[in-house]
Amino acid sequence: MEKTKKVNLLEQFTLRNKRFRLIEEAVEILENHPITNVMEVGSSYGDASIWMNKQYGWNVTGIDKDINHVNLAKLKAEESCSNVRFLKQDIMQELDFSYKFDLIVSEASFSLLEDKKKAVKNYHDMLNSKGKVIVNDFFVKEMSDVAAQKKVNIPCFKNMETLHSYDEYFSCLGFNKIHQKDYSGWLAPLALNLKRTCACHTHDIEEILDESLENDAFEVVDKQISFKTFFQSVKVGYVQIIYEKTT
Ligand SMILES: C[S@@+](CC[C@H](N)C(=O)[O-])C[C@H]1O[C@@H](n2cnc3c(N)ncnc32)[C@H](O)[C@@H]1O
Repeated sequence: MEKTKKVNLLEQFTLRNKRFRLIEEAVEILENHPITNVMEVGSSYGDASIWMNKQYGWNVTGIDKDINHVNLAKLKAEESCSNVRFLKQDIMQELDFSYKFDLIVSEASFSLLEDKKKAVKNYHDMLNSKGKVIVNDFFVKEMSDVAAQKKVNIPCFKNMETLHSYDEYFSCLGFNKIHQKDYSGWLAPLALNLKRTCACHTHDIEEILDESLENDAFEVVDKQISFKTFFQSVKVGYVQIIYEKTT
């Protein structure tokens, strides 16, 4: 393979094609539910929160545990004259808000959590009665080697679980699932964009992912496994699930 430039994978992901389409589709499903106060968990560079505020007029709070992401998001909010507030918060820690939310939006920020139970407990505490959670995220479709998954460097992949286990976290903590749709087909254009950005061949993508991790905004620790080996062991899917608080 010719030497290709490294890419920032998080930036690539946030620039994904039609990235708000999944939120739009969820909002259509929720059209009869009144929504005023919304929290985005893992708001990263702030684009989705700012977009939801402008598109739907919601009062949006974006939280992210990475202060650099929060600062960038605040800057974007200022530049776009949006009144979204961005806070540095870890969803797995104790949270204290003066009001409750009608909707929590979590895009590619549930799969990566180590303590999903704690996060779902916090979702429950932060929501109004009948409040909703939109989870758009990666999940494990099939896995032939559990150890391989734990050695991959992308947090979303390392900690993602099966749909069954996502459902268990929510149902055990007082939520009902009201919608689910498989968007795994949506991962192909993501790879295509990456291929275009790097001007590389499809079979080089795993190598680019490996190289890019060294220079990425993800919190990457030691490189332990190649993406090729990972994708041979774990089949990754993408899903939208909407849960409703019942108790
Ligand atoms: C893969 S990015 C997704 C960003 C954005 N939601 C999107 O869909 O493009 C995951 C984001 O979640 C944030 N994050 C990771 N763990 C978190 C935690 N425990 N609490 C809050 N944010 C977290 C990361 O800093 C990162 O910005």
